[in-house]
Amino acid sequence: MRARRQPSLTLRATLAFSVVAMLAVASAGMYLYETMKGAVMTRSDHAVLARLDHFRKLLQYDLTLTTLQSSPQLFENMLDSEDDIFIIAEPGKPAVIMVNPLHAPLPEMPVVQANRPLSVADMRSGMLDSGVPMRAATVEAVSRGKTVHLTAAHIAVKEMATLAGFRNRILFAVALAFVLTAVLGYVLLRRGLRPLRRMASHAAAITPAQLDSRMDNRDTPVELQQLGEAYNAMLDRLADGYQRLTQFSADLAHEIRTPVGSLMGHCQVALRQPRTEDEYQALLASNLEELERISRMVESILFLARADEAQAALNRQTLDLADEMQRVTGYFEGLAEERDIALHTEGDARIEADPLLLRRALSNLVANAIRYADEGSVIDVRVVESARHCRIEVENQGPTLDDATLGKLFDRFYRGDASRHQSSDSNGLGLAIVAAIMQLHGGEVTVNQPTSGRICFGLVFPR
Ligand SMILES: Nc1ncnc2c1ncn2[C@@H]1O[C@H](COP(=O)(O)OP(=O)(O)OP(=O)(O)O)[C@@H](O)[C@H]1O
Ligand SMILES: [Mg+2]
Repeated sequence: MRARRQPSLTLRATLAFSVVAMLAVASAGMYLYETMKGAVMTRSDHAVLARLDHFRKLLQYDLTLTTLQSSPQLFENMLDSEDDIFIIAEPGKPAVIMVNPLHAPLPEMPVVQANRPLSVADMRSGMLDSGVPMRAATVEAVSRGKTVHLTAAHIAVKEMATLAGFRNRILFAVALAFVLTAVLGYVLLRRGLRPLRRMASHAAAITPAQLDSRMDNRDTPVELQQLGEAYNAMLDRLADGYQRLTQFSADLAHEIRTPVGSLMGHCQVALRQPRTEDEYQALLASNLEELERISRMVESILFLARADEAQAALNRQTLDLADEMQRVTGYFEGLAEERDIALHTEGDARIEADPLLLRRALSNLVANAIRYADEGSVIDVRVVESARHCRIEVENQGPTLDDATLGKLFDRFYRGDASRHQSSDSNGLGLAIVAAIMQLHGGEVTVNQPTSGRICFGLVFPR
């Protein structure tokens, strides 16, 4: 079943960025709006206070109520807007002057004494039915012995209109920030993620025949560079593995073709004319030998394939190496005697290993040593212990090999010239099996030539 398609990373990131940009612009706008509102209101408060102060002084010095009453233009042009309120009244009596075009209700207000200066704290807020705010104050004035109350109020219609305009601009800026960030973010992110898409199409084009193509990581951003490098490294490993597999199957076909070809050849020659019973027996015996070799090869290949594949479960046991060396050299004694070779064992240790596999690895080394050592020489099998390792060494006298050859000994199907000529039952798989066994144990197999003419293989087990 196909997985549900997740929203794209570009889309999600773009939306997130846009919301953040929108919030940032909105908060800045709100802050500016509040500051501006405060400033506008303070300004209008001061205008109201200045007006009250002005008329209080006028009344206290020379202006009489009657003059004021008879010439309304005196105060009308003092008012800030046509809706503003201005009232003069003697306490408890109807107003002498009453300007309140909108008939707005006034809030409850304290009366500021005539000798006291005015301040913003003396002002009160009110509200028209239409929701427009108002600021008002009342002061006392003494004009020719008469006490009068002056009330002034400002209705903030213009201010509210200005602020409403400002608010609309803020809303517009917020919307613009959202759209701009979304568009720019989308474009930039799509550009930034281009290497990912390139990688996907590169990966889609990879086939076994094209394992040598690599991603170009030069213009990839740092975050994706790691991915690109890991991807290329994976291709390196795949190409290497694939190349070895191809080589292996080519070698395998070649190795099996030769003995099968020779078997067929023997049979064809034999069938060309009638043969004696002895001849048939000899033919069958030689064919059997060849078939045994093929069977051994198949068994070895199967072992290597399983070791590669499953890291086959190891049956680890505590082993006494002196016993194990004794057992293996004892088994090869007869073969060694045939070539007049002596087997020496030395040392002892205990390790944790799979007994069957350890015996198989050690047998392969000892079999090689007997096969390739100079006739009449001595083979040393010994245990060397160090703090971190336990090493089983098999050393014999033999041909001097160059470094390139030493490196190839553990390759599957690699055989030295000597073995090609010497015997037909060499498959070149013995050391590959030893290497696989050591890998299963987390150790390794080493080879070196301590002096020319001596060759020493070591099975290194980690402690
Ligand atoms: N002790 C040794 N001294 C000298 N040469 C060696 C020794 N052991 C291995 N070699 C060389 O390494 C080659 C590879 O050895 P390996 O055991 O893998 O294969 P093989 O012995 O030829 O065949 P197989 O072990 O499969 O029967 C040998 O053909 C031989 O040339
Ligand atoms: Mg061998």
